[in-house]
Amino acid sequence: MDWKVLYKQKLTTAQEAVKHIPSNCRVVTGHAAAEPTVVVDAMIDNYEQYENVEIVHMVAMGSCGYCRPEMKGHLRHNALFVGSGTREAVNDGRADFSPTFFYEVPKLFKTKLPVDVALIQVSSPDEHGFCSFGISCDFTKPAADKAKIVIAQVNDQMPRTFGDNFIHISEMDYIVEVSRPLLELALPKIGDVEKAIGENCAKLIEDGSTLQLGIGAIPDAVLLSLKNKKDLGIHSEMFSDGVVDLYNLGVINNSKKSIHKGKMIVTFLMGSKKLYDFVNDNPSVEMYPVDYVNNPIVVMKNSNMVSVNSCLQVDLMGQVCAEAIGLKQFSGVGGQVDYVRGVSMSEDGNGKAIIAMPSTASKGKLSRIVPFLDHGSAVTTSRNDVQYIVTEYGIADLKGKSLKQRAAALISIAHPDFRDELSKEYEMRFKESL
Ligand code: COA
Repeated sequence: MDWKVLYKQKLTTAQEAVKHIPSNCRVVTGHAAAEPTVVVDAMIDNYEQYENVEIVHMVAMGSCGYCRPEMKGHLRHNALFVGSGTREAVNDGRADFSPTFFYEVPKLFKTKLPVDVALIQVSSPDEHGFCSFGISCDFTKPAADKAKIVIAQVNDQMPRTFGDNFIHISEMDYIVEVSRPLLELALPKIGDVEKAIGENCAKLIEDGSTLQLGIGAIPDAVLLSLKNKKDLGIHSEMFSDGVVDLYNLGVINNSKKSIHKGKMIVTFLMGSKKLYDFVNDNPSVEMYPVDYVNNPIVVMKNSNMVSVNSCLQVDLMGQVCAEAIGLKQFSGVGGQVDYVRGVSMSEDGNGKAIIAMPSTASKGKLSRIVPFLDHGSAVTTSRNDVQYIVTEYGIADLKGKSLKQRAAALISIAHPDFRDELSKEYEMRFKESL
């Protein structure tokens, strides 16, 4: 049948579409800035019609109304990553947190967490009836591929991006048309500390490297420090506006990449309209599902691969906590370990996995380099996986180092206010002075 006829048949309102979500089912919503907010909010408005519906999400940037106390018994959130909108509910026991590597999420949707309903947001259809998943391919496309019911919010402001990132009208059950700006990520504040961290990271990044950059002020500060580099490439879980600036300057040209030469490979995008306009109909950017982009055995094929991620605490053995403050879940592993592992497995042996953080937290009151992780904290990157730790005070290369050498290297990049205290711990532990 002509896809245009199908489109008309499936067209409905958000309020009507969400009536087709059954009770006792699992709903996966489109990820991050691609969340189909009109449909998700319609489901939340109608919560009383459902019993026992699980909402699986990762970086939740919408209203997160499914976390409200009155949702009890109707909608319950299962977070694969915790963010500002879901943190309180998870830590109050009103929502759940399920630890998982990002690259394994599509596999979970095939095995342990089968998807009943996918709520997705896509671009307008092209002349063949294909809509692009736009700024989020990640687990959104795999969820739609597996779901029994697909409710699609078709937004003419969603960019059309390339790669394995399309869905045909015939694969959708209900279509809700909207025309509205996408969710945007506020630009992070980059101060002197972040700039110094960025410059230290830049010392480890050679011309011709392929980069993975996490989210936030530190990755953005790293990008600012790369303006004098040449021939950089991108193979990253996500990227934001900073990459656009370096691409336009010709610093990023993907010309030295060992796989996907000439292309930026990414699984989701979060930034401002500038980023969304840049990726629209842009063949230099290709989006693939996260079980490809973040898979360590794909990451390892990139030559001169460098990953830059951040964390909350590092102990003197090099155990990295990036996701919890004590028993309080702050975020999740996301793609951190996917890249730390992929980079250290690099086929060319040149991979560098950087974990970069300010030396202190809570306005300088706490050292992030600590003798022990906070009681109850989770280890995100293990001491066996860890490679470089970078602060504004320098670079600690921990790979192949003994526990004693690691502690000394980490103390040398701690904030000077905390070095005496850490040195006392060193003396007690290793029976010698630093
Ligand atoms: N003890 C107490 N509070 C701490 C702390 C600690 N050890 N470390 C940080 N904090 C506080 C900070 O002071 C800050 O609070 P404030 O804003 O009131 O000052 C808050 O916690 C957030 O810390 P910050 O370091 O600014 O967080 P961030 O937004 O830069 O995010 C991570 C850092 C590590 C949470 C984030 O990068 C993450 O979730 N990483 C894991 C996932 C990942 O790496 N994915 C890879 C690709 S996206």
